[in-house]
Amino acid sequence: MRSSNTMDVEQEYKKYYVDRDYEQVDLFRLMKDKYAIEKVIYPGSYVHISPSFIFTDVVYIDSDTKAIKFFKNKKLIDFVNKRKEYSSAPKITFHGIDYKKPIDALFNQFDLLISQYAGFISEACKEYLKIGGYLLVNNSHGDAGLASIDEDYQLISTVHKNKGKYRITDAALERYFIPKRNIEVSRELLHKTGKGVGYTHPAPLYIFQRIA
Ligand SMILES: C[S@@+](CC[C@H](N)C(=O)[O-])C[C@H]1O[C@@H](n2cnc3c(N)ncnc32)[C@H](O)[C@@H]1O
Repeated sequence: MRSSNTMDVEQEYKKYYVDRDYEQVDLFRLMKDKYAIEKVIYPGSYVHISPSFIFTDVVYIDSDTKAIKFFKNKKLIDFVNKRKEYSSAPKITFHGIDYKKPIDALFNQFDLLISQYAGFISEACKEYLKIGGYLLVNNSHGDAGLASIDEDYQLISTVHKNKGKYRITDAALERYFIPKRNIEVSRELLHKTGKGVGYTHPAPLYIFQRIA
């Protein structure tokens, strides 16, 4: 097995994000332009380092051993320096732990919480968000559905991708999160299924604001 010193961070990132056209740099750029975002937290990040290309101060949390090696690698900072779109030095903090284990010192500190393909982060990591902070979330594990029934969050925008370009809109928000089937969507149901329910109008990603 390759040691942390020899892991090629660029190759690792390329394999998962560049080759799959899933870097999302343009989405993070759009979000920075549209919202006041300084501090970002990304639980269940794996090696998705692209928020650091756009945002100066990002905290990542992931318990995966490969992710731990990636973030320990001294070459990571060179890679981010090459790609970053701001003048200051990047601040990258990584916690190689279960994101369900709260880090009290980080509560109410963040302007953006990212939840993609990694479970119910809107719930487990809500306390990290400032009131007024943003949650970027997909529904792969049902986390967007969970945020939609959580009174502490309000849906403010949806994110769409067309011909490779992301777009953020606040149009027709009322049509989202209407279940296709006649069921009551509860926290218990979503935790039980772990993959969400079908909605009449799904969006690839949703943006909520923490309101309480
Ligand atoms: C499918 S990957 C998604 C990675 C990234 N969010 C993306 O969109 O490419 C899920 C990641 O979440 C991490 N993860 C899942 N549950 C976790 C937990 N409770 N604590 C820490 N990391 C977790 C896994 O280790 C894995 O790296």
